[in-house]
Amino acid sequence: MSKTFENKVVVVTGGTSGIGLATAKAFSNEGASVFITGRRKDALDAAVKEIGGRVTGVQGDMAKLVDIDRLYDAVQQKHSQIDVVFANAGGGEFAPLGAITEEHYEKTFDTNVKGVLFTVQKALPLLRDGASIVLTSSTTSISGTPALSVYSATKAAVRNFARNWILDLKDRHIRVNAVSPGVTETAGLNELFGNGDSAENTKNYLAGLIPAGRIGQPEEIAKAVLFLASDQASFINGVELFVDGGQVQI
Ligand SMILES: NC(=O)c1ccc[n+]([C@@H]2O[C@H](COP(=O)([O-])OP(=O)(O)OC[C@H]3O[C@@H](n4cnc5c(N)ncnc54)[C@H](OP(=O)(O)O)[C@@H]3O)[C@@H](O)[C@H]2O)c1
Repeated sequence: MSKTFENKVVVVTGGTSGIGLATAKAFSNEGASVFITGRRKDALDAAVKEIGGRVTGVQGDMAKLVDIDRLYDAVQQKHSQIDVVFANAGGGEFAPLGAITEEHYEKTFDTNVKGVLFTVQKALPLLRDGASIVLTSSTTSISGTPALSVYSATKAAVRNFARNWILDLKDRHIRVNAVSPGVTETAGLNELFGNGDSAENTKNYLAGLIPAGRIGQPEEIAKAVLFLASDQASFINGVELFVDGGQVQI
């Protein structure tokens, strides 16, 4: 039986952990040649090994334009075009209004907004007409969380990139959608919640607020990304797909 992404070329930024790693694996399992990025070399090497198949790791910080150029140079050495870009690298830290520093602002916006913008813009010469772009936003794009305003603002920005880019890319029939995970079990989430007991307690508390009664798994976000990237979603364009167990639907 043919696989959904057989002979397709897929770029996943932040593909060494959590949602990006699970998604890179899922694309690889569906036959794609996958390029993943991450800043940490050891994590990148481990992820490449774990994913197997036709995967290439490109070390780099997606907030830096020279690193994004290196990513696409690496793609171009092996392929003439890209079918899917999953601009996922991102993260955040808590800082309440009153304690927000310039460094916090710049770090968060550089990774989550500047990084996503230039990951997509620099992919354009290689993206084939009819390609698909998926951006990682978050339920925080439409909901408030104490001490998370800068992160939430970046995710609202990402969501709005999708609305506007479908107009800019209209003539090339390139679809752009955002996936908005709710609370999802990843290393990044555990770190945000202080790891150990602190993280477990916070996750248990949040699980109680989610209609599904639990937090999400990275593989569940990956399934939504593959759907949006696939021809199954051929008429879905510019949406924000919440994958959150109902968290922001109530
Ligand atoms: N987990 C959740 O509950 C949740 C909910 C909503 C949205 N999200 C979003 O989902 C995305 C993935 O998060 P996650 O929870 O899977 O986190 P994670 O486990 O920390 O994974 C983040 C990935 O991004 C990479 N990364 C971070 N900053 C980068 C940069 N500047 N350049 C290149 N790679 C970078 C990390 O590798 P290096 O550290 O080695 O660079 C890692 O591969 C993020 O955009 C996050 O905001 C997560």
